[in-house]
Amino acid sequence: MKPRIGTIVVGIACLALGAGIQRAYDTWQAQFGRAVLAPGETPESAVKAAAPIWTAAAVDRSKINYSNQPLWAWGETEPPKSDDKQAVQGAPGAPVNNRNANLTPEELNRKRRADGSNLAFSLAEIRNVDNPTGGGNVVDWFPDDHPNPMPNVVRYGPAALGKNGRACGSCHLSDGSGRPENASPAGLPAGYILRQLNDFKSDLRHSSDARKANTNTMIMLAKSMSDEEMKQAAEYFASVRWRPHVRVVETNLVPKTQIQGELFIPTGEEGAEPIGNRIIEVPTDVEQNQVLRSSHGTWIAYVPVGALRKGKELVTNGGMKVVKGQIVQGKTTACGTCHGEDLLGVAPDVPPLVGRSPSYLARQIFDIQQGARNGSNSNVTLMRMVVDKLTAEDIINITAYLSSRPVPPPASSQLLTRR
Ligand code: HEC
Ligand code: HEC
Repeated sequence: MKPRIGTIVVGIACLALGAGIQRAYDTWQAQFGRAVLAPGETPESAVKAAAPIWTAAAVDRSKINYSNQPLWAWGETEPPKSDDKQAVQGAPGAPVNNRNANLTPEELNRKRRADGSNLAFSLAEIRNVDNPTGGGNVVDWFPDDHPNPMPNVVRYGPAALGKNGRACGSCHLSDGSGRPENASPAGLPAGYILRQLNDFKSDLRHSSDARKANTNTMIMLAKSMSDEEMKQAAEYFASVRWRPHVRVVETNLVPKTQIQGELFIPTGEEGAEPIGNRIIEVPTDVEQNQVLRSSHGTWIAYVPVGALRKGKELVTNGGMKVVKGQIVQGKTTACGTCHGEDLLGVAPDVPPLVGRSPSYLARQIFDIQQGARNGSNSNVTLMRMVVDKLTAEDIINITAYLSSRPVPPPASSQLLTRR
């Protein structure tokens, strides 16, 4: 398939303007104080040492149509303002959010168990804010789920960043099963993972919302990874078997939630509220997912009634209809054309779509539509044309349907990905 690239309006160029870089860097440096220092380090020397790699490139977001943004997928209620600064999560100098600060020593050191695991960890271990090797902590409840030993980059973060790094496993969990506010690299084709890391590194892939601090951190981590670290991380995550962990429920009413760390967390209050034009993805068990950070935690995605049927039409035939014996083209193209008939992805580098977090998928569709996410794969341009006309409601329907689809066990060698 040869795209007529010449006819395609390429989206937004990501400009690495010197002044913008300095501004972004100053912003997080000014906003955050320094938290964990290596022996002999001063706050100034630590920030200086990390600066070349942790500098966020300025991104031109002036052409993004935020009126179409599925805000729920960002865990936001209002679109970003034009002067919102590019935030960075856990940059060197950032204060560690020490949720242990108010705990009694007894609570802090009490051993806890995650459902299904034989291991026991205390909150002091789970949220080890002073991890002596740096990198944020990776709690490994299920070592049998992944190859061992875990590569250093996954356990401690890119070596070039030393104690300023963040471990891949601290956000994406030990096996890459991931969470709605980041991504699930587990079981993706290795070629696709490698390409994404390189695309982040070369500033081709951004979030359309500057407030998405963890995506900016992801970009900076990719910029500091060596080729060997990328290869190790890609092989590691690709070899984990994907365990679907989202249950999709159609409903008019959802439990009351509050937004914490980009996520909808049930408040436990009586009553319910209308779902409106949103998908509300919540942890099935706040203790397992949030407190213990179990990689076996599951999620419920509440979706509007009717979303699955409408999503199916768009995903399976692009919304094409037969009216009075005439074919009327739909607003999009059947996703299976490129993502495989079963939507399980196609090696070497087309990602699977089924059984994944609707919040993650929706952010990607909007980011690709608005040109904030580009890529070195020439088919990204085609992907952009495919999603060009989708409304915020179409994105709800499509992601609801994709997430609800079952992921068969990898039964035969024909399955190109391990999902
Ligand atoms: C601070 C949290 C954080 C850390 C640490 C982190 N990531 Fe990410 N990662 C993210 C976020 C957030 C996204 C993109 C989500 C978005 O923009 O919607 C992402 C996306 C990805 C993707 C793209 C997945 C896809 O389906 O396209 C890959 C691959 C990935 N990360 C690998 C890694 C590796 C390897 C490391 C370790 C070097 C790492 N991540 C460390 C937060 C993190
Ligand atoms: C012309 C081929 C093509 C078609 C048709 C297509 N896609 Fe894609 N899609 C791709 C490619 C290639 C990528 C990987 C882009 C990259 O490397 O960054 C992709 C990536 C994605 C991603 C990001 C996944 C991730 O892990 O980050 C989503 C979500 C997605 N497509 C959804 C869809 C949906 C929904 C449809 C149908 C409405 C669709 N695609 C139709 C080619 C296509």
